[in-house]
Amino acid sequence: MIRLPGLIDPHVHLREPGATHKEDFDSGTASALAGGVTMVLAMPNTKPPVFDEETLRVALDAGRQKARCDYAQFIGAGPGNAAEAARLAPQTAGLKMYLDSTFGELRLDDMTLWMEHFAKWPGITPIVTHSESRSMAAALLMAQMYDKPIHIAHISLKEEILLIRAAREKGIKVTCEVCPHHLFLADGAIPLTSAGNCCEDGLPDGRSQVRPRLATPQDAQALWENLDAIDCFATDHAPHTLAEKDSPTPPPGFPGVETMLPLLYTAVKEGRLTLEQLLEKSVTNPRKIFKLPEQAETWVDFDETDTYEIHASELHSRCGWTPYENWKVTGRVRRVVLRGQEAYRDGNVLAAPGYGKNIREN
Ligand code: DOR
Ligand code: ZN
Repeated sequence: MIRLPGLIDPHVHLREPGATHKEDFDSGTASALAGGVTMVLAMPNTKPPVFDEETLRVALDAGRQKARCDYAQFIGAGPGNAAEAARLAPQTAGLKMYLDSTFGELRLDDMTLWMEHFAKWPGITPIVTHSESRSMAAALLMAQMYDKPIHIAHISLKEEILLIRAAREKGIKVTCEVCPHHLFLADGAIPLTSAGNCCEDGLPDGRSQVRPRLATPQDAQALWENLDAIDCFATDHAPHTLAEKDSPTPPPGFPGVETMLPLLYTAVKEGRLTLEQLLEKSVTNPRKIFKLPEQAETWVDFDETDTYEIHASELHSRCGWTPYENWKVTGRVRRVVLRGQEAYRDGNVLAAPGYGKNIREN
């Protein structure tokens, strides 16, 4: 058994308010704890989106009543809310800007709206963008023009990581994250690691839908080769029910907060990553980038020798499925202690709803 710090996942969708049949603060943070994650940053593409004082209050009330691990809530960049978002900044995880198509209504097309947000956001925490390929290049230009830190969510392409590397060398304040699914899966959800040997046929179309799309094996390889330029691991935990994923209009997204640590630890075992890198990108760097507090008396007891198969039936998300069904991984979370209290042990989440703290409060 080894003892690890509690992981921080800077990118989860908890679906509250508006879609609690997929997930809520309770089930999503239970899943986090079972995955060795003790702090999550929740995205604002809810229904309604979190974009002003009233909707932020609704999301934070849900968190206060239901969260089992610690959390903070992003505010979304919309048309006309740049001043209000900036005023609310200290109460949020950061500002999220959707510049490309995905689930929800928060997409901003007009670049003059991006400019308003970049001009007004205080810049103590970064502006997180969902910006792929050329929109990412445009977002980097904004970061440079307004001298604000930018964090690129879920990079998936070789050209993206190479551009981020080059932008950083020019002094642009850019950080980025990568999701396990863009490291371990290629287009069609074809596994890129021996852990997924059981499923070389990939997944049916609806289940393999995610934004950014799964890319080529060459893109994934470029992410592995440029790990030193990737600041954070983030899951983009995006639960949708199996019925929704198998419907004629499948929404994009994978659950992932509970499977990240075993998948990454399996990569450590395979020599593709060091444990030091794993912890730097899932604890130290997210804490630094998003200005998150230390969690005292918080740790994960992790059996680094246990080899087993992932099954959705044993996971805690309400969505009821995983893209990693039957994958063989090494490393099991046995026990999680959060701020001095046992929060998870051997399959059972022990932290009650409401135990989790909004880390931006007082
Ligand atoms: O696949 C995705 N699903 N990508 C996103 O950016 C949003 C997410 C969701 O909310 O379902
Ligand atoms: Zn997301």
